[in-house]
Amino acid sequence: MEIKIIGTGSFVPEHAVTNDDLAAIVDTSDEWIRTRTGIRERRISEGEGTSRMAAEAAKRALENAGIKAEELDMILLGTSTPDCCFPSGACEVQAEIGAVNAAAYDLSAACSGFIFALNTAYSFLAAGLYRTILVIGADCLSKIVDWSDRSTCVLFGDGAGAAVVRAEEGDGGRFHMLMGSDGQRGPVLACTSRTVGNFRTGTKPQLGYMTMDGQEVFKFAVKKVPEIIEQVTEEAGVSLEDVRWFILHQANYRISESIAKRLKVSMDRIPMNIESYGNTSAATVPVLLDEMNRQGKLKKGDLLVLAGFGGGLTWGATLFTWQMG
Ligand code: UT7
Repeated sequence: MEIKIIGTGSFVPEHAVTNDDLAAIVDTSDEWIRTRTGIRERRISEGEGTSRMAAEAAKRALENAGIKAEELDMILLGTSTPDCCFPSGACEVQAEIGAVNAAAYDLSAACSGFIFALNTAYSFLAAGLYRTILVIGADCLSKIVDWSDRSTCVLFGDGAGAAVVRAEEGDGGRFHMLMGSDGQRGPVLACTSRTVGNFRTGTKPQLGYMTMDGQEVFKFAVKKVPEIIEQVTEEAGVSLEDVRWFILHQANYRISESIAKRLKVSMDRIPMNIESYGNTSAATVPVLLDEMNRQGKLKKGDLLVLAGFGGGLTWGATLFTWQMG
């Protein structure tokens, strides 16, 4: 049994918001944002919700894979900003693309959402339960960002990325994964919207903004991500040198540099696109994967490691052989 990605797609909103645009609304500067994060601009939704963006990315992934929506057995959407409590974003994508044979549901692991969804898809495929699964990472963080808080609003953007994963006969390729969570540290990165409507007291559901202890998240990321990359390569029986690309969650250029340094891996093997999109949460990894696929940078047989971290706290890594091309 061979489990492989057969197509990728992504979508980001048209509307670009530059650092200078943000400096007009909060006390910040292009220089601060660029030097502390590597971000120059981000795409912000002008109405596209998470499901719309996810559906666009999905259509592009299906087209890239050359398959019809009816062939999908499952849709897994990693998101922490669904447009509503229910129906799930995955069900909305299903309706939009006409994937009538798919079971569809969302999975909530914040910025680790795509990696958790990909690993979950792999488990279903490896168990022989399904043949073709659409995995999506999509977030519209602009909906929950406090646009008056300079310590968070400059970091994030909106977007969606998708991959079609299929199980086929064959014995080529590796696939190894790991995931972890630490609920005790949840408050470090949180969105406090609560479904606290109460019949007896008349309390209404509360909306809340994202809050973050940036330095704690930074320290967590630069320690945890190298650890999980070392662990997943060790478990797969390969060395870091065998890995062609490390496709990491795009949270901060300095975080990726620090991970590179700890692993003693050159930044040449850690592609970045944070400059153009900021941190799009669950979408960063699949958007970057899709860009690299479309740019022809991924060659058949390349060993890839995807790794991410985020609210929860959560973290995950996936090591696999690129089989397209
Ligand atoms: O998907 C995971 C999501 N979260 C993350 O990835 C966040 C990880 N953390 C980070 O990326 C960094 O910690 C930040 C970019 C959030 C902050 O960078 P930092 O180098 O850790 O800065 P800091 O928090 O130590 O703040 C330094 C100074 C402070 O001023 P004082 O106290 O030194 O006077 C901040 O108030 O920078 C100030 N500051 C800003 N100044 C201009 C904070 N935000 C801004 C801003 N513009 N946007």
